[in-house]
Amino acid sequence: MLAFVLLLTMLLAAALADPFSDKDAYKHSPPYYPAPEIGRVPTDLRWRAALKVAQGMVANMTLLEKVNITTGTGWEMGPCVGNTGTVERLGIKSLCLQDGPLGIRFADLITTFPAGITIASTFSRQLVRERGAAMGRENRRKGVDITLSPVVGPLGRHANGGRIWEGFSADPYLAGKLAAEAVTGIQGQNVMAVVKHMVGNEQEHFRQLGEWQGFGFKDLKQPLSSNIDDRTLNEAYLWPFADAVRANVGSVMCSYQQINGSQGCQNAHILNGKLKEEMGFQGFVMSDWLAQRSGVASVLAGLDMSMPGDGLVWADGVPLMGYELTRSVLNGTIDESRVDDMVTRILTPILYLSITPTDPNFSSWTNDTTSYKYYGAKAGGNVTVNRHIDVRDQYTTKAALDGANAALVLLKNEKKTLPLNPTNIGNLNIFGIGSKTGPLGAVCGENMQCSDGALIEGWGSGSVYPTDYQSPYDAIKERASKDNITIGGTTQSWGNLSNVEILSAAADASVVFVLSDSGESTGIVDGNIGDRNNLTLWHNGDEVVKAVASKNPNTIVVVTTVGPVNLEKWIDNPNVTAVLLTGPAGDFGGRAAASILFGDIAPSGKLPFTIAKNDTDYIPLTTKIPEDGLPQDYFTEGTLLDYKRFDENQVTPRFEFGYGLSYSNITVENLEARYAFPSIPEFLPTPFAPSNPNKPKNAFTPHANESVFPSDIDPLNKYVYPYLNDTSEIFSNETHYPYPEGYSSEQSNSTNINGGAVGGNPALWLSAVYIVHSVSNYGPYDTGVVTQMYIAFPQDNDDLKTAPRQLRGFERSELKVGERQGILYDVQWRDLAVWDVKLQSWRVQRGEYKVYVGHSSRDFVLTTSFTLK
Ligand SMILES: *[C@@H]1O[C@H](CO)[C@@H](O)[C@H](O)[C@H]1NC(C)=O
Ligand SMILES: *[C@@H]1O[C@H](CO)[C@@H](O)[C@H](O)[C@H]1NC(C)=O
Ligand SMILES: *[C@@H]1O[C@H](CO)[C@@H](O)[C@H](O)[C@H]1NC(C)=O
Ligand SMILES: *[C@@H]1O[C@H](CO)[C@@H](O)[C@H](O)[C@H]1NC(C)=O
Ligand SMILES: *[C@@H]1O[C@H](CO)[C@@H](O)[C@H](O)[C@H]1NC(C)=O
Ligand SMILES: *[C@@H]1O[C@H](CO)[C@@H](O)[C@H](O)[C@H]1NC(C)=O
Ligand SMILES: *[C@@H]1O[C@H](CO)[C@@H](O)[C@H](O)[C@H]1NC(C)=O
Ligand SMILES: *[C@@H]1O[C@H](CO)[C@@H](O)[C@H](O)[C@H]1NC(C)=O
Ligand SMILES: *[C@@H]1O[C@H](CO)[C@@H](O)[C@H](O)[C@H]1NC(C)=O
Ligand SMILES: *[C@@H]1O[C@H](CO)[C@@H](O)[C@H](O)[C@H]1NC(C)=O
Ligand SMILES: *[C@@H]1O[C@H](CO)[C@@H](O)[C@H](O)[C@H]1NC(C)=O
Repeated sequence: MLAFVLLLTMLLAAALADPFSDKDAYKHSPPYYPAPEIGRVPTDLRWRAALKVAQGMVANMTLLEKVNITTGTGWEMGPCVGNTGTVERLGIKSLCLQDGPLGIRFADLITTFPAGITIASTFSRQLVRERGAAMGRENRRKGVDITLSPVVGPLGRHANGGRIWEGFSADPYLAGKLAAEAVTGIQGQNVMAVVKHMVGNEQEHFRQLGEWQGFGFKDLKQPLSSNIDDRTLNEAYLWPFADAVRANVGSVMCSYQQINGSQGCQNAHILNGKLKEEMGFQGFVMSDWLAQRSGVASVLAGLDMSMPGDGLVWADGVPLMGYELTRSVLNGTIDESRVDDMVTRILTPILYLSITPTDPNFSSWTNDTTSYKYYGAKAGGNVTVNRHIDVRDQYTTKAALDGANAALVLLKNEKKTLPLNPTNIGNLNIFGIGSKTGPLGAVCGENMQCSDGALIEGWGSGSVYPTDYQSPYDAIKERASKDNITIGGTTQSWGNLSNVEILSAAADASVVFVLSDSGESTGIVDGNIGDRNNLTLWHNGDEVVKAVASKNPNTIVVVTTVGPVNLEKWIDNPNVTAVLLTGPAGDFGGRAAASILFGDIAPSGKLPFTIAKNDTDYIPLTTKIPEDGLPQDYFTEGTLLDYKRFDENQVTPRFEFGYGLSYSNITVENLEARYAFPSIPEFLPTPFAPSNPNKPKNAFTPHANESVFPSDIDPLNKYVYPYLNDTSEIFSNETHYPYPEGYSSEQSNSTNINGGAVGGNPALWLSAVYIVHSVSNYGPYDTGVVTQMYIAFPQDNDDLKTAPRQLRGFERSELKVGERQGILYDVQWRDLAVWDVKLQSWRVQRGEYKVYVGHSSRDFVLTTSFTLK
């Protein structure tokens, strides 16, 4: 017997060491049924009050009215990218759902905010919150109720993932903290935030079947499956979603691709098990647009709202919810209580956030002032659809400008090149495609699918149309005139660069603006189908830099990029004396660059990703279709993302995560660790058991004959309705629905150790240790100062090994010359926890934790440690 036990333990250990040894296991995601209902965990009074009102409303709705709220009216069947059906009898208006993560898509007179990856390089909770509040404010004024922002998936596994600029950082701690601030900022303005895309949506390649078959990948049979082991799922990819849930986010968007062999919007383990049960999520799950791939199965797996309403195909008016949901309740396949929960989950956060839908005053489908109300149906006459309301104000402008300024990262600064010294510089020449607005203007085609000018944002649904963009060239020219510096140069990038060399030789200093772009795979730019084909600069950027530097020992390079880029061709060139880097910074990227170059503002940004010396140091995309047509993407690096991978493999990067120089001399002193509690527990305490709230009795019983189109409705072409044509459609020849394995409709009464409150077990969020130190600015510039704190966990349990160091605290302060400030990092229990696969729960290991504080993930000034016994 003993031998048997030993053998079993060894087998388990082997399985843990390589979670991918059984690859077939990833063709299956564990079942979790039924979808946990809202209100089963204790919440604050505001959630409770909202829930009670929502339950009362739902109890007073007919089945058809409920279905209307769960389903979009179809693509282009309302002013916004998503519009829900109405319940006129109860005064419930259509909800307007609009992209996206950096502003209001398809709208005029709005602010283009810095992208997610750009604001992340400020390492500033406050700036992220202010940006969120400013975005919320503009959305509210345009009549948007639900903004599809923020992004934490993609997290940033791939340096060249097409949409990593929409999110914050591949470090889950940083992404989570910033996502929570974004949610709080947005939702403080009576607009709901949507955290997306849940989960594993790390690359554009093969995310959707039809889309990628359309790109010529004819052998593709299913969307990509992101195969993620249990520990990594919890410690890396789900982690920031929990922060957003804890911040009371109203909605979560599920993703296009599969997760461990099960479609993202139909993954019961993720949506029911992780999100609704463990994280105690009180809002609703909406599909990404057309990410829903099944009807009943998705609903049972936890999907609450179908967007845009059309199901498998764009704009065909054939839903997977809508009248099909009506039908599935009437034919007995879906219990009405599930639909009640879907609607209650939608209405509760609307009430919780005091959202009062107002008619949107813009149209996503036309710039004309008057047009069709139902654009997709070419119906609803000649009404005012665009009121052209300028929603920008001082507050939103400031949030965007402050973010752009604080985002610039100083990578290199030799011979005191920066800030520019006007007494030494009479003329400055400016080079590179990135310096000027492209030939088409700042708005350069549908969804910003362009790359012929300064990079303002990436392309796809995460883009907006800039209203007033000032290019770096124009901003520098304006600024330089104050110092009587003359400006010249050229954007020529291809062919014989001798003119570039001549102009560079003639200048006291040369500034080159280079860039790298990417986007969503709805569009292709220069052969890049969303994801970047390479990590080199676009538009022959390396050669332009080399040409400029060959004739000028005072060459400054400004890189605007959607993610990591390869700088090796010139970074060590002694004539390249200064290098600045920023993500796409929106309206004020040009102005921010000018302010930093001239020293009006000191640079304070830090890299939210690692810049490698060699592209092969990054995790490659899956770009080949296997013979069976089912691409499998095994996340074999586990939790070792970005700097953790470089640290673990002892690879020296060019510039590490967290890196960024200052114009000023910053010193960190007096590091100390203090226990928040005399003893910090190893395991989570048992939370409150779930309780099923009493719900008011439904006032209406669904009747088949009430499910057909009422006589007073003249259906619009391809509009999505909750009605059937005929009651004969209700029953098919099937008598029994093939429920998924493990299906049950009974709410569970068992306590999940990881659950118990909004954001999960409340003990996860308790302070465990405080790390304190001081930071001083010895001058000579007033500046923003970012400090970072990393923790090395005990490494003596082979099953629970972690990356050498993990970010567990960061702070940005504004310090005038001579100022000193105290910094406190609140390290919560969760921040010290690892996911124990055997326990299926979190655990804080006993042993020594080393603490590192400094200026980057490798540049540590002070260290200390604390021990948990
Ligand atoms: C249901 O809503 C109608 C219309 O607003 C209202 O007259 C009625 O009192 C409500 N019934 C309940 C039970 O709330
Ligand atoms: C459903 O919503 C549509 C608008 O999308 C509205 O015309 C219809 O009356 C609503 N149906 C019910 C049952 O409320
Ligand atoms: C009930 O209707 C749904 C939606 O159309 C369908 O998917 C399901 O198979 C039906 N159930 C039965 C038993 O026919
Ligand atoms: C609306 O205007 C923008 C430019 O401001 C343009 O890029 C876009 O294509 C226009 N949309 C339509 C539907 O014409
Ligand atoms: C739309 O209405 C405006 C006045 O409101 C009128 O000038 C215009 O001709 C109308 N257009 C069409 C296509 O009916
Ligand atoms: C710039 O030139 C003007 C006119 O020559 C002069 O009045 C001004 O003082 C100069 N400004 C600076 C900052 O040198
Ligand atoms: C990388 O991609 C860019 C943009 O498509 C392209 O301009 C460049 O030539 C590519 N570089 C290499 C080395 O292929
Ligand atoms: C640096 O610039 C000088 C001209 O000032 C030039 O002679 C030299 O070759 C350049 N060096 C490099 C490495 O390009
Ligand atoms: C990058 O790494 C690959 C694989 O390790 C190696 O073959 C290649 O020579 C390296 N390239 C450079 C420029 O160091
Ligand atoms: C920064 O200031 C500290 C404290 O005054 C000093 O010891 C250090 O030499 C300074 N470093 C630089 C680079 O000026
Ligand atoms: C109702 O009839 C229309 C027109 O024939 C058809 O397009 C639609 O699919 C039908 N709806 C349902 C629920 O079958």
